[in-house]
This record gives sequence, structure tokens and C-alpha cells, in this order.
Amino acid sequence: MSRGKFLALASSCILFVRSAIGVTVYGQGPLGATRTIQPDASWTGLPAYDPTTLTPPVVSPLPTPYFLQLTSDVNAVGGVSIPIKGSFYGFSIEVSVVDQILGKNSSFIQVPFLNLMATLASRGGEVHIRVGGNTQDYTTLVDHLDKGNIIQKQSQNTSNPTDTPALLFTRDLLYMMNNISNFVPVKWYLGIPLNDTTNLRLQIVTEGERILGNNIIGFQVGNEPDLYVRHQHRPTGYGPQDYFNEFQMVVNALAAINSVTDKNNLIGPSMASADWQPSDVWNTGFQTAFGQHLKILSVERYPNDNCAAIYPALGPAKDPQTEFPNYLNHGNIQSLTSQYTASTLLAQSVGKPFHMFETNTASCGGFKGISNSFGAALWATDYGFQMAHSNFSEALLHVGGQHVYYNPFISPPTTQTGYHQWTVGAVFYASLILAEAFGKSGTSRIIDLAANNGNVYTPAYAIWQNGVLSKLALFNYVSDPSDAAVNNVTFAIGGGQTGQPAGTPTTVKVKYLLSQNTASRNITWANQTFGQLFESDGRLMNNLHIDTVTCNNDNTCIVRVPAPGFALVFITDDPTNLGGGDPIQTYTTTAYPKIFNTATVDPSQLATSNGHSGKDRVNLGSTSYGSRSGAIGLRDGMREVLSVIISCAVGWFVIRGV
Ligand SMILES: *[C@@H]1O[C@H](CO)[C@@H](O)[C@H](O)[C@H]1NC(C)=O
Ligand SMILES: *[C@@H]1O[C@H](CO)[C@@H](O)[C@H](O)[C@H]1NC(C)=O
Ligand SMILES: *[C@@H]1O[C@H](CO)[C@@H](O)[C@H](O)[C@H]1NC(C)=O
Ligand SMILES: *[C@@H]1O[C@H](CO)[C@@H](O)[C@H](O)[C@H]1NC(C)=O
Ligand SMILES: *[C@@H]1O[C@H](CO)[C@@H](O)[C@H](O)[C@H]1NC(C)=O
Ligand SMILES: *[C@@H]1O[C@H](CO)[C@@H](O)[C@H](O)[C@H]1NC(C)=O
Ligand SMILES: *[C@@H]1O[C@H](CO)[C@@H](O)[C@H](O)[C@H]1NC(C)=O
Ligand SMILES: *[C@@H]1O[C@H](CO)[C@@H](O)[C@H](O)[C@H]1NC(C)=O
Repeated sequence: MSRGKFLALASSCILFVRSAIGVTVYGQGPLGATRTIQPDASWTGLPAYDPTTLTPPVVSPLPTPYFLQLTSDVNAVGGVSIPIKGSFYGFSIEVSVVDQILGKNSSFIQVPFLNLMATLASRGGEVHIRVGGNTQDYTTLVDHLDKGNIIQKQSQNTSNPTDTPALLFTRDLLYMMNNISNFVPVKWYLGIPLNDTTNLRLQIVTEGERILGNNIIGFQVGNEPDLYVRHQHRPTGYGPQDYFNEFQMVVNALAAINSVTDKNNLIGPSMASADWQPSDVWNTGFQTAFGQHLKILSVERYPNDNCAAIYPALGPAKDPQTEFPNYLNHGNIQSLTSQYTASTLLAQSVGKPFHMFETNTASCGGFKGISNSFGAALWATDYGFQMAHSNFSEALLHVGGQHVYYNPFISPPTTQTGYHQWTVGAVFYASLILAEAFGKSGTSRIIDLAANNGNVYTPAYAIWQNGVLSKLALFNYVSDPSDAAVNNVTFAIGGGQTGQPAGTPTTVKVKYLLSQNTASRNITWANQTFGQLFESDGRLMNNLHIDTVTCNNDNTCIVRVPAPGFALVFITDDPTNLGGGDPIQTYTTTAYPKIFNTATVDPSQLATSNGHSGKDRVNLGSTSYGSRSGAIGLRDGMREVLSVIISCAVGWFVIRGV
């Protein structure tokens, strides 16, 4: 099939799904009532530590209990994703804030950061981190900076609105990253600055490869090129073909540098807004033109933006309470992600992985009260699963620093390091859950079950590992203290009319992600938590608690999903993750100051223990403008036959069959 035809069919698939379901504009809000922000609204401190709590949206009518007919053999199910790794959710750290997150220099690494990464790696195998973002196009390597700093922003000419300050960095940033990889299995992405293609600055590649070696996964060529015109970094008219040509210049320049051994690890095109449609770029032939030099196809996308809060010229700032219900709605996540299914199919056809290179709750810093709420934890978990279902191979949650609301994790302000610990954000729980759900086998395949007639408040996914049904992921977005909103999900594996052998086990294990309501910040995963503001040293606290559910004797099983809540149901025992999956060794090296030096490790022992084994328990002593989404669909009132799996592919095959 020619590419043109392929794309045409794929996009008619999206049209099909949309016209069958109906699309409403994001922002008008579904069923939730608009309420006022509670007293904390007066907070004037740094956004990353803003304690604002919103009012949990009300849902009416309440979703009803539902039934899932499942199949153990993945080959008997259509539309299942490609194999997904436990490292699916990684992080994107804005270059200008690495010193708030990774460490101050190569011998002062933040221990809570190492603990967090070790907690993830013990579940998912590896953690992938991009150091990049808006500042990456203006980064410049220098030999030395004052006071031993590893990064420094050059002063900006404020009377020149188009002047973007350079971000200077030293080799010690790269050494620091490599030292981190010596402790925990973290692999890195870096970005090639693209502000000036006539004087390409490729030291990040030559020095990055020399210092980081195999710990580098790849180099992103430019960041959000679709926004270069809006940001006045390119003249009006700059388009996908111009980006293609600049990518070619990078390929050519690298070809001429003998010292670079890996020239096949470039990443693009990383567009982030509706200014360029994915098909605009694919129509240039980008995906095939660079052959093996192009390792990964990338996009960046936030579901929403809070830019008017920063740039008043954009109009009145959005009200977080009004926006909140949009995050507690599976239909919005499906609509966003389905915009890329044609692209992920195209990526498969050219044999390249497709990555979401930067995302989070909202660009321009996220929303007060939303980005760090339990609702955001549910949203990010659902969004991650939905991207995996849609054949993304990886997604990076952005870390923007102290001036944003959505950080997965952040150190305390430097003046408070003596008495405050880290703040672990809501979306970090999503990375933990996805790492557990997909595990280390590299064989996990997932599907959105279109559960409960597509009710947007009760999505469900099934995951197969090594070809066999292994886990269920069940959501309840409703906040309701009464028993009425608890969702009892009944499932059966095989049996009945399926023609498959009855396969429901006698018991299943369940881990819950819980909180008082969707607005709360008290989040627990299987009873463990990283605490609230300033409470984390990067290790899970409290006793692990896993529920065991005894199934019925008629090949069915009932799992309760609290309102609100998320349940990960282990159908087959997965010893790695079920047992807690937990550390792993924990770290205290050079860094952790003063009273919170909760564990100490001899650095030499640390170096040899290396963070690779989840089994060895060692108990030793802002930034992103853009991605303004326009209309985002709100799927509601969707009707599908029970247990039929809806995916874009279903619509696609329907159309092709006509
Ligand atoms: C970190 O890297 C530097 C430079 O390579 C090295 O000298 C130092 O020993 C490393 N520190 C640790 C704690 O591994
Ligand atoms: C690394 O950072 C720490 C903490 O800021 C500082 O005490 C130390 O002197 C720095 N090391 C170097 C080599 O600059
Ligand atoms: C700052 O920008 C303004 C406007 O572009 C320009 O006139 C001025 O010369 C610049 N000043 C410096 C120090 O570069
Ligand atoms: C590109 O960025 C570098 C570092 O900020 C700066 O020195 C250079 O002048 C910029 N070039 C262009 C064409 O903007
Ligand atoms: C994901 O890829 C698989 C394998 O090509 C395909 O069957 C499935 O329909 C795709 N899913 C979506 C949502 O496009
Ligand atoms: C869910 O199941 C429990 C236990 O069987 C039952 O007490 C409860 O009433 C059920 N809730 C709903 C909403 O059906
Ligand atoms: C968090 O939980 C604690 C203990 O259960 C409780 O005192 C506090 O009110 C809760 N906070 C919120 C915002 O729900
Ligand atoms: C949750 O953890 C706390 C603190 O470790 C413990 O006291 C409690 O018993 C645990 N709850 C369950 C249900 O295991």
C-alpha cells in the first residue's frame, strides 16, 4: 500500500471514530460543577510547592457496575498494542533546571533523585531521561563557569523581545549524568541545539558520546520546530520542509566528524502544536529520508495549556476549577491520543519507534490544584496506558522546576534544604504504576477495553505478558464518599460463549492507587506513599499492602474499584512487582544534607552495587510555551457492545471493509 493511501485510510479512521462518538470542545466542561478554589488560593510562593486544593468535580449519573469478558491468549484478540517496556514512562528535564533535580555537579548528586530512579528501575528495568526542553536550542558548551556551576543562563537583553538567553553548560553536567548511570540504570537523551544551522554546535554530540558512551540513547535534533516561527526563532514561512533540510544539515555535519562513532541515533521531528499536522511532516518523506540515522520519531504534546496565566496578551487565564473535570475523563485522553494513531502506524511501517518526547498536564507550567492532585495521578496513568495502547513506545513526563505545578519530583528551595525534603508529585505515581504494569519482560501488550459501554469515568485496560493475560488496569474517576459510586467490576477469562477454555484463577491480587478524592494530594499506592509537600527522600514509606480477591466458582471474579481509585489486578503472579518490587538499594552519597540523612552508603559499595538488581535489598547505613491544543475532543455517550474492543483499528477495518 502506498504511503498516501495508508495515511488517507488512517485518517478516515479518526473521522469514523469521531463522527460515531461526537466531539465537544475541550474546556466547556463535562458534568462537573464549577466551584471556588479553597483558602489556599492565596499562596504566593513558588508554584512547585503550591498547596492549593480544588473541589473534586461531581459526576452524575454515577457509572454502573460492569462486566468484562476477557481472553487469555493474546493471539485471539485483535488490536492489541506492540510490545511495551517497563521504561515506557520516563522524564524530560528542562536543561535550565538540572541543578534542581540531578545534582550540583558530578560529585554532588541528589540522593532522593537516585532513590526515585532506583524505585522505578526495580520495577521497569531502566529509566529513560531527556535533558532538554525549550532551552536546549540555545545551549552552548563552555570549559568553565564561575563558582563551579555546571549550568548558567546568560543574561538576556530585555529590551529585545526576540533575544533568547543562551544556556551555558560545562562537561561536568555530562559527567554528572554518567555518574548517575553508574548508580542506577538511567539512560539519557540529549538535544542538538538548532538555533543556528550555519554554525552548528555539535559539541554536545562529540562530548556527550565521549563521556556518556552507551548511556546515551539518542540526540533530539531541535525542539518543537513548529513553534520556531511563533517564538520568532525563524522567519515566517518556516515549515516542515525547512526542518527536513536542517535535519539533513545535521546528518551531513555528523558524517564529517570522525570521532563520533554512533551516527544513527538522531530523533525528530518533535512538533508540539497544531501549527504543523503530523501528516505535514510525513508528507516531506522525513520518516524514510534519513534511513538508519533517524532512530526515533518524536512528538511533544500537552493536552491543555495555562499560557494566559503567564502571557496576559493571550486573554483571561483559565480557571483551574473549570478545567479540572476535563482531566477526569477518559474520552479526552482518547481524543488526544487518537490524533497520533495514523503516525504510530506509519512509524511501525518504517520500523521506527514513536515517542512522546515531552508531556504533562498543561504547558506553561500546569495548573494550580490540578497538576499535583490525585486526579492528575489518575489522568497520567490513563494517558500513559492510552499512549501505549496507541503504539507509542515511550513517553517523557516533563520536569519544569520550581516555577511549574506539574513536577513529578522536585528538590526543596535551596534555602530550605536543611529542614525540607523533596516533593514527589502526583504524576510520579503514574510512572511507578506503568513500570509495574509493563514490567521487565519487554513483552507486555495492552488494549483499551472500551469498558462499561465506553463510560468515560470507568476506563479499563488489559495487559498480556509473554502472550498470556497478565493484568487488568481498572479506573474510577468519580469522587463520592458513599458506597454507591464504588465500581464493582466483574470479569471472566475464557469460558461462556467464547470458545476458549475457562481461565479465571481462584484468586487474584490487587494493588490500589487511592486518595480521599480526586482533588486530594494524599496519594497511596498499595498503601505506600512518598508523602505530601517536602516529605520524601525518594523512597516509598509505609507498609506494602496487596489485596487478595477470592473469585467466584462460576469462572467470574469481582474487583471493587473505589470512588475515586485505580486498581491493578494481577491475574498471573508477577513475582518482581507483586512482592513490592521494592528497593533495591537506597542511596545516601555525598549529597543529602543534615537531618534527613536517613540511610548511608559507602560510595565504594554503591559503585559496585550499581542499582541493577531489584532483588538485592541493601539496608545500608518553566517553561514550555506552546502546545496550545485548540479543540480537544470530549468523548461522551459512547456506545459499544460490551467486551468488544474499540480502537482506531476497528474503525479503520470497518472503513476498509466497505
Ligand atoms: C563522578 O565523575 C567524576 C568525573 O568523572 C569522577 O571523578 C567522580 O569520582 C565521580 N563521582 C562519583 C561519586 O562517582
Ligand atoms: C559540588 O557541589 C557541592 C555542593 O554545592 C560543592 O560543595 C562542591 O564544592 C562542588 N564540587 C565542585 C568540584 O565544584
Ligand atoms: C538590546 O536590544 C535592542 C533592541 O533589539 C537593541 O537596540 C540594543 O542594542 C540591544 N542591546 C544590547 C546590549 O545588545
Ligand atoms: C544561537 O545561540 C547561540 C547561543 O545562545 C548564540 O551565541 C548565537 O548567536 C545564536 N545564533 C543565532 C543565529 O541566533
Ligand atoms: C497498534 O499496533 C498494532 C500492531 O500493528 C495494531 O494491530 C493496532 O491496531 C494498533 N493500535 C492502534 C490504536 O492503532
Ligand atoms: C459492590 O460490592 C460490594 C460487595 O459485594 C457490595 O457491598 C456493594 O453494594 C457493591 N456496590 C455497588 C455499587 O454495586
Ligand atoms: C490527608 O490525609 C490526612 C490523614 O489521613 C488528613 O489528615 C488530611 O486532611 C488529608 N488531606 C487532604 C487534602 O485530603
Ligand atoms: C499501611 O501502612 C501503615 C504504616 O506503615 C500501617 O500502619 C498500616 O497497617 C498499613 N495498612 C495496611 C492495610 O496494610
